Amino acid sequence: MEPKKTENLFTLTTPLYYVNDVPHVGSAYTTMAADAVARFQRLQGKSVLLITGTDEHGQKIERTAESLNRSPQEHCDQIVSSFESLWDKLDIQYDRFSRTTDPRHAEIVKEFFGRVWDQEDIYLSQQQGWYCVACEEFKEERELIDEKYCPIHTNKQVEWRDEQNYFFRLSKYQKQLEALYQERPDFIQPESRRNEVISFVSQGLQDFSISRLNVDWGFPVPVDPNQTIYVWFDALLGYVTALLDPDHEATLENALSKGWPISLHLIGKDILRFHAVYWPAMLMSADIPLPGRIFGHGFLTKDGKKMGKSLGNTLDPVELLRQFGSDAVRYYFLKEIEFGQDGDFNLTRFINTVNADLANDLGNLLNRTLRMVHKYFEGRIPHVSGTAIPEDNPLKSYGVTLGQTVAQGYESLAFSKVCGAILNLVQAGNKYIDEQAPWALYKQEKLDLVESVLYSVLESVRLAAYLLSPITPNLSNGIYHQLGFSIDFNDKTAIEAAATFETHALWGILPPEQVLAEPQPVFLRLELPETVLS
Ligand code: MSP
Repeated sequence: MEPKKTENLFTLTTPLYYVNDVPHVGSAYTTMAADAVARFQRLQGKSVLLITGTDEHGQKIERTAESLNRSPQEHCDQIVSSFESLWDKLDIQYDRFSRTTDPRHAEIVKEFFGRVWDQEDIYLSQQQGWYCVACEEFKEERELIDEKYCPIHTNKQVEWRDEQNYFFRLSKYQKQLEALYQERPDFIQPESRRNEVISFVSQGLQDFSISRLNVDWGFPVPVDPNQTIYVWFDALLGYVTALLDPDHEATLENALSKGWPISLHLIGKDILRFHAVYWPAMLMSADIPLPGRIFGHGFLTKDGKKMGKSLGNTLDPVELLRQFGSDAVRYYFLKEIEFGQDGDFNLTRFINTVNADLANDLGNLLNRTLRMVHKYFEGRIPHVSGTAIPEDNPLKSYGVTLGQTVAQGYESLAFSKVCGAILNLVQAGNKYIDEQAPWALYKQEKLDLVESVLYSVLESVRLAAYLLSPITPNLSNGIYHQLGFSIDFNDKTAIEAAATFETHALWGILPPEQVLAEPQPVFLRLELPETVLS
């Protein structure tokens, strides 16, 4: 099947999250990164489809529901609503929420299985090995900790399995996968994850089982209803089902007609093998074009320690958002952690970083500048044009190329660099206003200079707010409104249609004489909470 390129379309996915428990900060992390990318693409006028959702089948969910005396479906429905509510609080603008219990998904999985079956890529054999239910994955004996614990879920014992299952002929795709990684060096990112995958594949690929006995919660294998389709085989196809329009009949052809191939799969490093090895091979078998790229981010720790309920070291994203709001949370995780590397959350560092960057450097700069403009120029942007400001003005000379630098940063998911580059402009703005001392220039009646200084600073704050809007949309809204604009960065339809990046990412577009709003703090300083977050 030939890839159908739909110009101007950008489709991206988060993983489909397990619903064994309410969402944790790890799920929030992937999702906020995905949302930042989606928002950046929309600023450029791309028609974006952000897919998220839930992975609801398998033994892990079956057992959790049982332990809570709920039916699996009842359990899934409850947990799904907590995901939806968290995404709402985190200002995630997803376009599709794909649930693997959607009846239409069953149709897609069945058809896909049929295609792979017809290729003779599925066969029955004996599966023996150590299984981690929490990962829903077989582990190699040499990977185990103390011979019985999963290396990821270190408090969970693996279970021995010895049963007849259906296998997918992964080994058949070894050469094709190796060629793919060579021909498309950007397929797996960052580089370290690519190397990890290449090294894994070079050791020789083994076929893997795609069905289970004694698991009821899932889809029956179309050719053998005594077996249930393995949760990962089903879940990955949730990305395909998500593309079906609501009134579309559930067929692969319909699902793949728009938005496929996915431009970007965002995942955590623990599920890299499924996405970068198994998934492309499954797609090759079914003759479906491969996704654009797969980016595996790192793991979060809290105060330097692994997070986990049983370890008594968790970070509740709902509580974090309730106390500090979504901009602060999004900014901290995307700025403080290099995307792709592991990173840490520490409450004091969180509060200090956010206060220093957003409340002091950015918020105060706007506030003090606006006050002067109100005092000196009756609340209108000074009568200067960006082009008239000399090229060697330090803010202009940095600002003219910032849009491009930031665009490259967002494209390569280097959120931390993006924030750093924007903050440099803000800090240069603070330095510039202190050095130029427009209040003194005013006293000396050098009004032209006062106008030019205040214009340059306001324009730099505007540019910073615009470029940060994929990460801190509410703060950017506040700044834009104070500057007299009516853009709403949370109105995704309008943002996509307006495609403002070409103009607003430039330095020097602030309209002279535009009426400014009354100065108000745009970002309130965060305070250490009364109760310790856990
Ligand atoms: N259901 C599968 C994905 C199927 S995709 C077709 C799954 N779900 S999950 O809920 O367990 O994990 C979802 C994501 O959360 C993964 O990308 C994982 O890397 C991420 N995280 C889980 N714990 C994490 C941290 N402590 N830190 C950062 N991300 C982590 O896997």
